[in-house]
This record gives sequence, C-alpha cells and structure tokens, in this order.
Amino acid sequence: MTSIDSGVVIDGHRYSGVEVFQVSEQTRELREQVRERYAEAAVRASTGAAASCCGGGCNSEVPDLTGGLYDAAARSSLPAEAVLASLGCGNPVAVAELREGETVLDLGSGGGIDVLLSARRVGPAGRVYGLDMTEEMLALAQANAQQAGAANVDFLKGHIEAIPLPANRVDVIISNCVINLSVDKPAVFAEMFRVLKPGGRLGISDVVAEDQLTVAERAERGEYTACIAGALSFAEYRSGLAEAGFTDIEITPTHEAAENMHSAIVRADKPAGRLTGVVGPAARVRRAG
Ligand SMILES: C[S@@+](CC[C@H](N)C(=O)[O-])C[C@H]1O[C@@H](n2cnc3c(N)ncnc32)[C@H](O)[C@@H]1O
Repeated sequence: MTSIDSGVVIDGHRYSGVEVFQVSEQTRELREQVRERYAEAAVRASTGAAASCCGGGCNSEVPDLTGGLYDAAARSSLPAEAVLASLGCGNPVAVAELREGETVLDLGSGGGIDVLLSARRVGPAGRVYGLDMTEEMLALAQANAQQAGAANVDFLKGHIEAIPLPANRVDVIISNCVINLSVDKPAVFAEMFRVLKPGGRLGISDVVAEDQLTVAERAERGEYTACIAGALSFAEYRSGLAEAGFTDIEITPTHEAAENMHSAIVRADKPAGRLTGVVGPAARVRRAG
C-alpha cells in the first residue's frame, strides 16, 4: 500500500495527481462544496457514526440511495469503519465481475469499501487503485486498508477528471455514486477511456435521471452534493460514453433514488483494438523523478 502523497510508481515512473484540471470560479465552488460534504462524512465515519451523506443520515430529507446491496457476508468481512463510510448507490464490485490478477481503478473511492472488496476478488496477483480528492476520505480508506491487511491496494489523491495514472493501464474501472458529483462529466468519460486497457470494461453504479426531466427538475429533487441534482439522464450518459469511444453501453435502473430518478448499473467496454496514445490527455499527468 502506498501513501496518498507519494503517488504511485508504474514502469519506473512516479505518477502523482496534480491540479491541472482547469475550472471556472463557480465550478470550483461547487466542487469545494462536494469536498466539504465528504470530508465531514469521513470524519463522522472515523468516529464510529454512519456517514450516509450520499443518501439519508446527514439530512433526513435526502433519500437513502444504497438499496442495501452489500450482502451480510461482504459487510462482515470488512472493518466496521469501511462499512460505516459506505456512501454508494449500488454494488459495482458485483457488477464488474472481477477476476484474479486484474488491475482495478475505483473512481471516488471514499472510505474504501469497494477497493477492499475488489482487492479480495483480484487476489495477490492483482492491484486496486482508489482515487479520491478528499484527504479525510483517503486517510480513512488507508486506515481501513491497513486494518483489513490489504497489501494489493494504492490510494491516490486527485480528481476523476484528470486521473493520475498512465494510459492503457487498468482492466476495469468501478465507481459508486461519484460521476454524478463531477463538474466535468465529458472529462471523466475521456479519462476513463484513456486509462483503460484495450478490451477493458466499466462496472459503475450511479444515479441517473429519466430523459424527460430537465436540469431544473433534477435539482428540485435533491442537492448536488447529495448525488441528485448533478445526475445525467439515461440519454446523456449513453451519448457521453459513446462520444468518449465506449461500446456495448448498458444502463440498467435498479432502484428509485428520487421521483423519476434511479440508482443504475452502467456497463460499457473499451474496444479491444483501441490503444490510447500516451500523448494527449496523459500529458496532464505529471511523471516525476
Ligand atoms: C458519494 S461518495 C461515494 C464514496 C464511495 N464510492 C462509496 O461507495 O462509499 C463520493 C466520493 O467521491 C469523491 N469525489 C467526488 N467528486 C470527486 C472528484 N471530482 N474527483 C475525485 N473524487 C471525488 C468524494 O470525496 C467522496 O469520497
């Protein structure tokens, strides 16, 4: 396990997240609100309280999005703090059908529940990266990984819009209720495509709106930081992934998150022949040392 500040060494180069993701003042403010909310949730979880901010708990008017999708066996095999910090809206580890030896990236890894579950599935020959922008979450995730004795995990500090990993690196990207929080979703889709190996796949849980809902109607149903107002519609999600180059896109609703809004499973593939050049988006990642 590596520390969040040291980045990660791959093929002899050290990759670390850098603030290269240019945003407007308004967008920066929104992202800061998201960071603050999840920093608070991490602190709550580390003191033994349930940290359900992307769902009920911090605010009783916020719907519970998790749908109870982790079974008892999975929950009991993890540190209590990792379970308490779970803020997702599904179970992407089950969706992604992980195999021994695979390299996995969890976007917005929070307290690390899906990283730890993935680490078990891929075994010692595999590797799991957890990426998050919130220091408090990363600290909690590292403590949880240590307690769980997970040796095949690395936590990275950075933004999902500028992933601090080289191109064509990971077999599978998972994410649990995070992409709706992004202030630049096309950048996230492009970055997911870049870091996946040709033939790689997505197994994501996220909140998705029915196509008829306007952006204003989505905002009426819940806050941006509570994973509702920033949700894409089914059509927007599909076209965003297709524009980034993904194929075999499937978006399947699982349970209601708010009126006409759903927790959903998103699956898609990077075509086998599509090696992404390391020049371009990868140049946004600093190779140090
Ligand atoms: C709703 S929580 C989900 C956490 C975790 N996936 C889970 O299932 O428990 C969202 C997480 O995504 C992180 N996050 C939100 N926006 C992000 C961004 N643009 N880049 C990196 N991390 C982000 C937050 O810090 C938080 O830990």
